[in-house]
Amino acid sequence: MTKKLKILVVAGDGIGPEVTGEAVRVLQSVAELGGYDFQFREELIGGVAIKAKGSPLPEDTLKAALESDAVLLGAVGSNEFNALPPSERPEAGLLKIRSELGGFANLRPSFAWPGLSQNSPLRPEIVEGADILFVRELLGGLYFGAPREWDKRVNAAWNTMRYTRDEVVRVSKVAFELAAKRRKKVTSVDKANVLEVSQLWRATVTEVAKDYPDVALEHQYVDAMAMHLMNQPRNYDVVLTENLFGDILSDEAGVITGSLGMLPSATIGGKVNLYEPVHGSAPDIAGKGIANPLGAILTAAMLLRYSAGLEDEAAAIEAAVKQVVADGVRTADLARADKSVEVSSTTEVGSKVREVLVGARASAAAR
Ligand code: IPM
Ligand code: MN
Repeated sequence: MTKKLKILVVAGDGIGPEVTGEAVRVLQSVAELGGYDFQFREELIGGVAIKAKGSPLPEDTLKAALESDAVLLGAVGSNEFNALPPSERPEAGLLKIRSELGGFANLRPSFAWPGLSQNSPLRPEIVEGADILFVRELLGGLYFGAPREWDKRVNAAWNTMRYTRDEVVRVSKVAFELAAKRRKKVTSVDKANVLEVSQLWRATVTEVAKDYPDVALEHQYVDAMAMHLMNQPRNYDVVLTENLFGDILSDEAGVITGSLGMLPSATIGGKVNLYEPVHGSAPDIAGKGIANPLGAILTAAMLLRYSAGLEDEAAAIEAAVKQVVADGVRTADLARADKSVEVSSTTEVGSKVREVLVGARASAAAR
């Protein structure tokens, strides 16, 4: 068990600092309760880094990330930079840190939290019990493929969706390994009726599946999958897909949970794992103290699970989140549908999670 952990915090833009602040305080509570030595260091990324240092991923940030045991990221993106080309925007810093750290498997769980089904626009009997783990390939496809260009002379622009067999093999293995420990089903999502890259994807996933005879494999086209996810989310266990399809479907999965603000993620398989909530920088609510910190707090739980082997502590955070939600301590995004719930602030929700964690530890000690 890891006793010492060096965590680089890159809070980024918008609501990033508010939500990661709560996640860090939760990690500090875990360290105090368990006698662990978690060391936090902060660096800049995204729009704040462009402003302070002229680059969305400054050298110092990348160096600190490579020296850490885990990187906890808030969010990047700011409307100020909307006119810039993709390569100069805050988002470029995120894509660069992803590729430099090398993690290719982005795990995005989407879970129907008890007591939150009212908050979903879907009927409770559809969402209740849903428990999906998206495995999104994070370093290939349209995000990184070349050539890419907007050629103003010919008034045309293009990007390239490219995958090598090896890239598909390695992310598929992660999906099958995880499915083997869950409900033993992988749904691979592609567009193999139109795209050659998807045909390679499908053939490769099918080949990898042969090494996992206990895990069932099904293929879905991405358009159909977008619909099935809303009609029958309980049908899915592990959903494996390429970068852009995974980006889109994981936001859609926020509907199952009731709020995008509840979704965490972990990126594994590289030099240093990267942890970031699925939501963006939400500039419209930044600085107001109303953002939901639970996505970031659940991301911290994934950090303990995948970078420190602290499974019990990760599960304790998840149980605390469950309790806080059930007790009706919720930010505005989660209180919307339930008028009996009083709206809490970002810090109130974070404090409540810590209180429940400390209380659970005390009652365990008393037993
Ligand atoms: C996400 C985000 C990022 C992505 C953006 C901010 C580059 O939407 O993590 O899902 O598209 O991967
Ligand atoms: Mn996204």
